[in-house]
Amino acid sequence: MQSSVGTTSMGTAIVDLAAITHNLRVVTDVAGVGALAVVKANGYGHGALPVARALVEAGVVGLGVSQVAEALALREGGITAPVTAWLHVPDTDFEAAIAGGVDIAVSSPRQLDAVVDAAARRGEPATLTVKVDTGMNRSGVGWAEWEVFIEAFARAHAAGAVALRGVMAHLACSDEPDHPANDAQAAGLRAAVADLAAVGGVPELVHLANSPAALTRPDLAFDAVRPGVALYGLNPVPNHSDAPLIPAMTLRSEVSLVKRVAAGGGVSYGLTYVAPADTVVGIVPVGYADGVPRALSGKLRVRINGRDFPGIGRMCMDQFVVDLGPDGGGVTEGDEVELFGTGADDAPTAGEWAEMSDTIDYEIITGIGGRIARRYVGGQS
Ligand SMILES: Cc1ncc(COP(=O)(O)O)c(C=O)c1O
Repeated sequence: MQSSVGTTSMGTAIVDLAAITHNLRVVTDVAGVGALAVVKANGYGHGALPVARALVEAGVVGLGVSQVAEALALREGGITAPVTAWLHVPDTDFEAAIAGGVDIAVSSPRQLDAVVDAAARRGEPATLTVKVDTGMNRSGVGWAEWEVFIEAFARAHAAGAVALRGVMAHLACSDEPDHPANDAQAAGLRAAVADLAAVGGVPELVHLANSPAALTRPDLAFDAVRPGVALYGLNPVPNHSDAPLIPAMTLRSEVSLVKRVAAGGGVSYGLTYVAPADTVVGIVPVGYADGVPRALSGKLRVRINGRDFPGIGRMCMDQFVVDLGPDGGGVTEGDEVELFGTGADDAPTAGEWAEMSDTIDYEIITGIGGRIARRYVGGQS
C-alpha cells in the first residue's frame, strides 16, 4: 500500500502511464490526426498532472479541460503545452486564464465580451477557441446567437483582442457512428468555420471528435481528435470498434479484517444478507465514499490471491464485506484485493461495475475518490 508520513491509504489506484500513451497511439492511428487530449475531471480520475505530463511527452497537439481552474492547475504543475478550457460561469477569471496562456473556448457573445474585456485589462490578446453548438443544444454558441457572435468576433479579431486558436463542436450521438446527427453536426462545424474565415478568423485547429467518433469516424477527424475516455483504456463503442485499448487504472485495496460469521448471522446495514452456513468474511476498507457504487451491494466480486470472492450485504461508505467461504479461502488480513483493472484473466473491470450499477464506465473511473492514493507505473511522472 502507498503510505506517506503518518497516513496509510486504504485503497490505491495504480495508473499505468504506458497504457495511456499506448492508447493515445491507438486512437491517433485510427483517426489519422493528432489529439487534443482530454484531462478534465482530474484526468478522468487518474490524476490530471501525471497523465498530462505523459501525454505531452508523447506528443499531443494540446490538452483539454472543462474549467479554467483545471487549466491553471496544469500550468502550476509545469505544463507548458496548449491547454483549452471550455466551460465557464459569468464570473470566471479570464484575466488569470490569459495570464496563464490558456486557450479559452467561448460559448456565447457574452463570454466573448468578457474575454475581450479581460484582454484589454491585461493589455494582451486572449487565445480563443470558438465552441459552436451544432446541434447538441448544450454548451457552445447556438445558431440563434451566431450572427451576433460573428459580428462581435469580427470586431475583437480586427482589434487584435483575440488570437483564434480553434473552432470546436461536440457530438451528441457519436456512440452511434451512423446516426445522421453526426454528419449534420459536422456540416454545422464546417459552416461555422467558413463564417469565421469570412471575417478573417482562420483557426489553427478545428476539432469535433470525442473518443467514440475518433475510433469509428476518421472522416470526422478534422485537424485533431479530442478523446478522453479511450486514452484511459475504456472503449465507449465496443460494438463498433475493437481497438486494442488497455485500461490504465487498476483499483486495489487490502483485507483489513478477517472474521467468522455463524449460520443465520446477518451482514452489514439492514442485515440484508444472512449467512446460510457458517462462513468466514473479509472486510475491504473502501466504500461508496471512495467511488465504489452502493448499487454494487451484493453484486460485485473482488479478486484476492488470484481467486474471485463475492461481496455480500450492503455497500457502506468506507467498507464492504466479502464472503471468503467456510474455510476462509486462505485469505489473511493484509492480502491485496483487486477491485477492478485490465480484465486480464477475466478479473473484474470498470465496465463490469458500470453494467451492474446501471451507469457508464466513465462514471466509475471519474468517481474514484480523493482518499484513494494514485500510484504511477510505466512512465516518468
Ligand atoms: C467537449 C468535450 N470534448 C471531448 C470530450 C471527451 O469525450 P470522451 O471521453 O467520450 O472521449 C468531452 C467529455 O465529455 C467533452 O465534454
